[in-house]
Amino acid sequence: MLYKILRLFLFRFRPEFIHNIIFTFLPFFKFFFPLLRPFYGFNEYANSVTVNGLKFRNRLGIAAGLDKDGQLIEFWDTAGFSHVEVGTVTPLAQPGNPKPRLFRLVKDKGIINRMGFNNHGAEKLKKKILKAKKRVRKDFVIGVNIGKNKQTPLDKAHEDYAKCLDVLYEAGDYFVINISSPNTEGLRELQGDKYIKDLLFEIVMKKNEIVKEKSLPEKNIFLKIAPDLTDEELKTIYDAAVYYGINGIIATNTTITRNNLISKINQEGGLSGKPLKGMSDTILKKLNELNRESSDFILIGAGGVFTSGDYKDKMALGADLVQVYTGLIYEGFGIARKILK
Ligand SMILES: Cc1cc2nc3c(=O)[nH]c(=O)nc-3n(C[C@H](O)[C@H](O)[C@H](O)COP(=O)(O)O)c2cc1C
Repeated sequence: MLYKILRLFLFRFRPEFIHNIIFTFLPFFKFFFPLLRPFYGFNEYANSVTVNGLKFRNRLGIAAGLDKDGQLIEFWDTAGFSHVEVGTVTPLAQPGNPKPRLFRLVKDKGIINRMGFNNHGAEKLKKKILKAKKRVRKDFVIGVNIGKNKQTPLDKAHEDYAKCLDVLYEAGDYFVINISSPNTEGLRELQGDKYIKDLLFEIVMKKNEIVKEKSLPEKNIFLKIAPDLTDEELKTIYDAAVYYGINGIIATNTTITRNNLISKINQEGGLSGKPLKGMSDTILKKLNELNRESSDFILIGAGGVFTSGDYKDKMALGADLVQVYTGLIYEGFGIARKILK
């Protein structure tokens, strides 16, 4: 209720302006965050799960792209979530696409974004995570979503993913290969037959090399896919992921389709929120059918989660974990409490 009133005010301003204000000023109040726990953290130990050795205190987390540079990790720990996925991070810092690049579709409860992997780069993110780890509770999971820089050609993309892994392996608890954002030219082609096998092979080899050379533990690597895939494409990706030893799939990223929207908005980019839910649920369901045989291959559902009903839908379709982004913008920071209750 309180947030609904605040939202009336916040939504009068451009979305990226509000985002920047919150992400600039909220970190100054870090030391007060634990005081919020009794309010936001209600039921936060419900339904815990261990994913290939990594324990999540509940099944709800923050999806990639909201806290790209790890500025609010300590906040997510107190706000009732089991994990945050920081990034997408690229080896080098980059500014992303020209503004405006973020649009609310209020009537549809959606967002269109074409941010283009704006981020401060892998080295800075590593420092942020290591610092935050000293302050968050031990069982708070920090995933790192990795991507390629804009200038890196597709046939060299694997080098960027490998660089990110190299820099961040020690800091992150799990990693996500993002090959599904629609806002980096050509990126989604990495999901196709031409690139996917070599890409996954190179990344898994790199992980094995890091584990051996730096004597670090094995960590989960997931793949994040688009909702706009045909059944054939989905099967190619799933088979390659299982074959090369990827630990699971996040379904899904944003869609480039524009079906049945009420809002009259004609912007390029990826669409998220309520209008995405049906599509990402369908992909999750199909993945779950492909995944019948494999009990340790993890499925993570993202796309259009606003309520506990949406969350339960994802779980019923086979999700081991669920992530939110757009729902938090519309429902406020109390969304974890609301869903997990
Ligand atoms: C503004 C914005 C930026 C995003 N940036 C990223 C990103 O950098 N990397 C990524 O993997 N997904 C990114 N996403 C996709 C979300 O992580 C999520 O997969 C998608 O929005 C569907 O969930 P939702 O409907 O709860 O928002 C972004 C989404 C939004 C709305």
